[in-house]
Amino acid sequence: MDTDTRLKKLIEILSSTNDYVPGSKLASILGLSKPMVHRLIEDLRKRGFIVESHPRRGYRLLVVDDLSLADNYVRGIGRRLEFKVYYVENCGSTQDLAEALAEQGVHEGAIVLAEEMIKGRGRMGRQWIARRGGLWFTLVLRPRNTRGLQLLSLVAGLAVVRGIESLLGVRTGLKWPNDVLYNERKLAGILVEGKVEADVVKYVLLGIGLNVNNELPVELKDTAITLKEITSKLIPRIPVLRSILLRIDEYYDTLVRGQYGRILEEWKKYSVTIGKRVRAYTVSGDVVEGIAEDIASDGSLIIRLGNGKRVIVYAGDIVHLR
Ligand code: BTN
Repeated sequence: MDTDTRLKKLIEILSSTNDYVPGSKLASILGLSKPMVHRLIEDLRKRGFIVESHPRRGYRLLVVDDLSLADNYVRGIGRRLEFKVYYVENCGSTQDLAEALAEQGVHEGAIVLAEEMIKGRGRMGRQWIARRGGLWFTLVLRPRNTRGLQLLSLVAGLAVVRGIESLLGVRTGLKWPNDVLYNERKLAGILVEGKVEADVVKYVLLGIGLNVNNELPVELKDTAITLKEITSKLIPRIPVLRSILLRIDEYYDTLVRGQYGRILEEWKKYSVTIGKRVRAYTVSGDVVEGIAEDIASDGSLIIRLGNGKRVIVYAGDIVHLR
């Protein structure tokens, strides 16, 4: 059995009961030593799973969906970021609450998490519908300078895709700059806002909206999708949050260390934009059509026009044409 098959089997065994499963029993079913079982359990935790251990009784998988408990499960999981969740049942937009906290000097790693938003914001001034059952949160970051800042939005998309993949084994794709798609339907969106004064970054607000168990409004049913729809299961949201935060922590560290090449390389592996014919709407109001050829080192999109010329789109929105 390879590690992935073992992990799958381990998840299967732990999910089949609400009770503890002794380490010795896991060891004998999986044909492993107890220390190897322990290592496998650590692997599960790194993927976002919440596994409780008891010295005599063994291991137990926790299924937690109650977002008001999130803080208990994200404290101390980051190596670079010190996560702390500020949970609200209901709000206008988590971006606004996070902004207020950031202005008051809240530390990097603070997260505003809401069960429901009534004035959720999307990119380019659009609204974001955020009903109960989804994962809607804003993370406050305080990078020291503006270097690599444009890549932050790619980092967030990458963290969502990798987080979902490592927890649920579901492979999703990245549409430039940072929509998360499954079969061309939108699963998650990312909004990066912030305050920069004289080249000094005061704070960055990284907003992530992920459709999990929420009902989608009828008008979005064909173009959006939820994790529940993809997996045909109700998905406990705290492990999903943990898994995404673990990846954000990892990639943010990569970014702060200036390893931009690694981020771009990873991003391209999950890209569903490169190679496609696209129409781009730039923030300055231009419309450009051509083949999405590559991502530049600053995260902008390189489009090859019909006449062979290349246009670089720094910010904006695109539509996949085929
Ligand atoms: C987009 O794709 O247009 C971006 C959507 C971003 C939605 C998230 S949900 C959490 C945070 N709070 C908001 O009001 N918006 C972002």
